[in-house]
Amino acid sequence: MKIGTALSNNATKALLLGSGELGKELAIALQRYGVEVIAADRYANAPAHQVAHRSHVLDMTDTVAVKNLIALEKPDFIIPEIEAIATQALLDIEAEGLCTVVPNARAIQLTMNREGIRNLAAEQLKIPTSKYAFAESFAELQTAVDNGIGYPCFIKPTMSSSGKGQSMVKSADQLEAAWDYAKSSGRVDTGKVIVEAKIDFDFEITLLTVRAKDEHCEIKTHFCAPIGHVQENGDYRESWQPQAMSPAALKTSQDIAFKITNEIGGLGLFGVELFVNGDDVWFSEVSPRPHDTGMVTMVTQNQTEFDLHARAILGLPVYAGYHSAGASAVILGGINAKDVVYEGLEKALTVPTSEIRLFGKPEAFVNRRMGVALATADTVEEARTRALKAASMIVIKG
Ligand SMILES: Nc1ncnc2c1ncn2[C@@H]1O[C@H](COP(=O)(O)OP(=O)(O)OP(=O)(O)O)[C@@H](O)[C@H]1O
Ligand SMILES: [Mg+2]
Repeated sequence: MKIGTALSNNATKALLLGSGELGKELAIALQRYGVEVIAADRYANAPAHQVAHRSHVLDMTDTVAVKNLIALEKPDFIIPEIEAIATQALLDIEAEGLCTVVPNARAIQLTMNREGIRNLAAEQLKIPTSKYAFAESFAELQTAVDNGIGYPCFIKPTMSSSGKGQSMVKSADQLEAAWDYAKSSGRVDTGKVIVEAKIDFDFEITLLTVRAKDEHCEIKTHFCAPIGHVQENGDYRESWQPQAMSPAALKTSQDIAFKITNEIGGLGLFGVELFVNGDDVWFSEVSPRPHDTGMVTMVTQNQTEFDLHARAILGLPVYAGYHSAGASAVILGGINAKDVVYEGLEKALTVPTSEIRLFGKPEAFVNRRMGVALATADTVEEARTRALKAASMIVIKG
């Protein structure tokens, strides 16, 4: 493979659609290989805008706006960082064959709608998932729950992420409120919700799975050590690596991750979300890109999830191993305010092995992720204690 000189006529150019904290780290990883990085998002001064060679602000769900940007920048790679994207634009661009959509346009289309990926996993590939149904009216939802899904169950908009519009329903009297919430709070109202039976898991993991070329130019699948995590209201709060699990459950997890990523195809890193109970494993969903819980790899792996994604995309070999147990703990805004100030870094960084990453978002919200604390240790337990302690020492003020 060849890489040109950034900011020259022969530059190898990557366009990031979505410029959050994951995009920021990916931009840095790509730039380390000399790639010219162009970062786009819906608002100015997004985290990746602050490190990219150039940036753009546009509505990424607007097909014409996305196509115009691609025509202007002529990237070699289009790398979606978020789910809400005009997928038709990506399908059209890919069909023209002038650039690579990462990992491919179909993957972006399939994973932005829960219906697409759920049908692929459960029906086509026969991978175990929670019992589920789709409903287009409250009556349909009620029937699905009464006819087998039961309580407790989760109601989710078919197009949403980070827990938006999602609720757990424990009894019949809560169902209508969950329906209303899902219908009104999704990213786009597709007219449909998914209802899933609640899986009683011991723990949940993200299995970072990389499809990369080897020295013979053949695509091989690599697995990072499993990442355990805690979610609150559908959003992650803490993650750690490795998550201890039985050899049988690990094997099943890797088999599921292989099946789904092999079907999706392309090159890059995927975050495969799985629920584990003893030796049993259920597929939940997959991101065809770095995963928020995978930020822990910034301290645990020689090649972080961002390095792995960058290398795989560029056709370079990867190594997915980890060198230390570690953990991450998110730093939430805690307030609604613009241009906030961060205090306590000097205290937080006295925690042994700790690292703090501040994303530089121009506006804080109570539940918005503004930074992350990271730490390593001999054990995951100690690493979690350290990361939580460091995160708790950061104070965000208006
Ligand atoms: N069927 C289920 N059984 C048990 N727990 C569930 C189920 N569905 C969702 N959850 C819980 O809710 C969390 C968020 O669900 P899910 O990943 O589907 O939402 P999301 O909006 O796509 O979130 P994200 O974008 O952060 O991954 C899961 O990680 C899990 O903790
Ligand atoms: Mg999820």
